[in-house]
Amino acid sequence: MDYSGTKESPPAGAWWSRETVAVVTGANRGIGHALAARLAEHGLTVVLTARDGERGEAAAAPLLARGLAVVFRRLDVSDPASVAEFAAWIRDALGGLDILVNNAAVSFNEIDTNSVEHAEAVLRTNFYGAKMLTEALLPLFRQSSATSRILNVSSQLGLLNVSALPPPSVYSIFFR
Ligand SMILES: NC(=O)c1ccc[n+]([C@@H]2O[C@H](COP(=O)([O-])OP(=O)(O)OC[C@H]3O[C@@H](n4cnc5c(N)ncnc54)[C@H](OP(=O)(O)O)[C@@H]3O)[C@@H](O)[C@H]2O)c1
Repeated sequence: MDYSGTKESPPAGAWWSRETVAVVTGANRGIGHALAARLAEHGLTVVLTARDGERGEAAAAPLLARGLAVVFRRLDVSDPASVAEFAAWIRDALGGLDILVNNAAVSFNEIDTNSVEHAEAVLRTNFYGAKMLTEALLPLFRQSSATSRILNVSSQLGLLNVSALPPPSVYSIFFR
C-alpha cells in the first residue's frame, strides 16, 4: 500500500515510521476512533476497523480527507469468520502488522453498575473477541522488539478483584 502522498510524517528519531502498521478495533467512534486518529496524526499507517461497513467508512472519511494514512477494513471481533477474513487480508494486503489495539467492546450498563443479564455477549466481544483476534494476528506480527506492541483497552468492570485496582484509575491498560 502506497501512502507516499499522505501529509503526516513521523518526527525525526521516532521509533515508528510510515511503514509501521497499527490496527485499531472498534475504531468508528469513541476511544478507538480517537486512538486511530492520533496514531495516524503521528505518521503511522492505521487500519481503522469497525463491525459495520457504513459506520467504518464514515469514520475513516474525515481522516482520509486530512491526508492521513488510514485504511478502513470491516472487522467483527466476536465473529470467527470475520476475524479469519481480516487476518488473511492483513497478510495479503499489508504483509503483516506492528501494533494491535484491542479496543472494541460492548457494555450494557452504566459505568458504575454491573449485571449478569448480558454477560455472554460482553464476554464474547470484550474477552474472547480480543483473544481470538490476538491469536489470529500474532503470527503476522513483524518481529521487532522496537515496534511490536499489543494494547488491550479494558475496564475496571473487567476486574475480578476491584479492590486490587489502585485508585483513582478508570482504565486498566496493559502494554506488552
Ligand atoms: N468510555 C469509558 O468511560 C470507558 C470506561 C472503561 C473502559 N472503557 C473501555 O474503552 C474502550 C472503548 O470504550 P468507548 O467508551 O470508546 O466505547 P464505545 O464508544 O461504546 O465504542 C465501542 C466500539 O466498539 C465497537 N464494537 C462493539 N462490538 C464490536 C464487535 N463485536 N466487533 C468490532 N467492534 C465492536 C463499537 O462498534 P459499534 O459502533 O458498531 O457499536 C464501537 O466502535 C472499551 O474497551 C471500553 O471497555 C471505556
